[in-house]
Amino acid sequence: MALRKIVTVGDPILTKVCRPVTKFDQKLAILIEDMIETMHDANGVGLAGPQVGILRRVVVVDAGDEDIELVNPEVVEVSEETQTGLEGCLSLPGKYGIVTRPEHVVIRAQDRNGDWYEYEGDEILARCFLHEIDHLDGHMYTEIAEKMLTPEELASLRERCGAAVFFSEELCANYFSYTAQGRAHFVLFDTAETLRRKLRLGRERGMETAFLMYPEVSDLLPELLNA
Ligand code: NI
Repeated sequence: MALRKIVTVGDPILTKVCRPVTKFDQKLAILIEDMIETMHDANGVGLAGPQVGILRRVVVVDAGDEDIELVNPEVVEVSEETQTGLEGCLSLPGKYGIVTRPEHVVIRAQDRNGDWYEYEGDEILARCFLHEIDHLDGHMYTEIAEKMLTPEELASLRERCGAAVFFSEELCANYFSYTAQGRAHFVLFDTAETLRRKLRLGRERGMETAFLMYPEVSDLLPELLNA
């Protein structure tokens, strides 16, 4: 396995439409393994072929409890319900924008052996699937971002997220959920169950977890953090 160089914005390869994978050989397996290693090394949650200079329809996604490989992925279904949140990209380091996407998606894709599987994703996973599949068609999230964060907004977010937990009515009003390159995740939650799930996922992934919370569940926080 080896780390691959991540292509950044300005390179025309990121605007090209990728070709389908037709050979399920050792070369593909090595590419997938390298992409997984490169994604983790860069603290990313997803990586697409063109981001490592390969114009083939291959994506890897860190789904928290497993790394998912998507060869020739297709979107089967998207929910009408949407999510609005912060999105970043390893090909545009240090930048984040607010992007609205479907809350839930169903996709299908092949694995390295050519077998087809179906995957469902909610929240960040749905966002990640769609962001990465967009890369295969030469698209970046910046094309659909409602707004890119200013350096000041970003600095303010970083400062606030130094604490494991923070409360912000103001942010709650603006952002529903957002994630920052896999180093930390930030979640607006509305039920104790969602909070428990997010805390567990964050711990398993060794990530710092910051929460924007509704006042109704804030009383539960000390108990949940010590659980
Ligand atoms: Ni990206």
